[in-house]
Amino acid sequence: MNIRNATIDDLLSIQHCNLTNLPENYQMKYYLYHALSWPQLTYVAEDHKGRIVGYVLAKLEEEQEKEPLHGHITSVSVMRKYRRLGLAEKLMAQSQRAMHEVFQAKYVSLHVRVSNKAALHLYKDTLHYEIMEIEKKYYADGEDAYSMKLFFDPSA
Ligand code: ACO
Repeated sequence: MNIRNATIDDLLSIQHCNLTNLPENYQMKYYLYHALSWPQLTYVAEDHKGRIVGYVLAKLEEEQEKEPLHGHITSVSVMRKYRRLGLAEKLMAQSQRAMHEVFQAKYVSLHVRVSNKAALHLYKDTLHYEIMEIEKKYYADGEDAYSMKLFFDPSA
């Protein structure tokens, strides 16, 4: 297993992984927007044959009124066979570090379905995100989202 920065060549594999694992899907131009704007923030996990088995797709929120510069996790997923090996934790940690170190982001935000136990464990217990609020009917099927944030240590 290897975690590395994603390149433009990985985007089709990332999209495939996303389509397999999540109902929130994006057009290729949205992946390209991430990769071209903030190439430092998107990471992939690959198996011993170089096949993409997980990704974190992330961006910077630069122009939100009243909010300091911060990162945002657009999407993270790991193929079923490769789960519970610590890949998502490592992918998230790499992206978070780049947000803080490269862009001096103050915090990172994300949304997650209130029913998504695995992801909630990852964010809340493993990575120590805080739940900021519940956004009612955030998802297309009407499910609520937790809006979560992790504040970076300003002295780090
Ligand atoms: N139930 C409870 N805890 C779990 C589960 C589960 N099903 N899966 C993982 N965990 C825990 C692990 O035990 C670990 O906890 P620990 O630090 O206490 O040991 C922690 O979560 C991190 O585990 P990882 O192995 O790093 O996580 P994994 O690589 O399995 O990926 C993920 C987790 C991304 C949520 C995976 O289950 C997945 O791809 N799910 C489908 C897609 C998804 O829901 N993505 C998140 C949507 S929200 C968003 O994208 C912003």
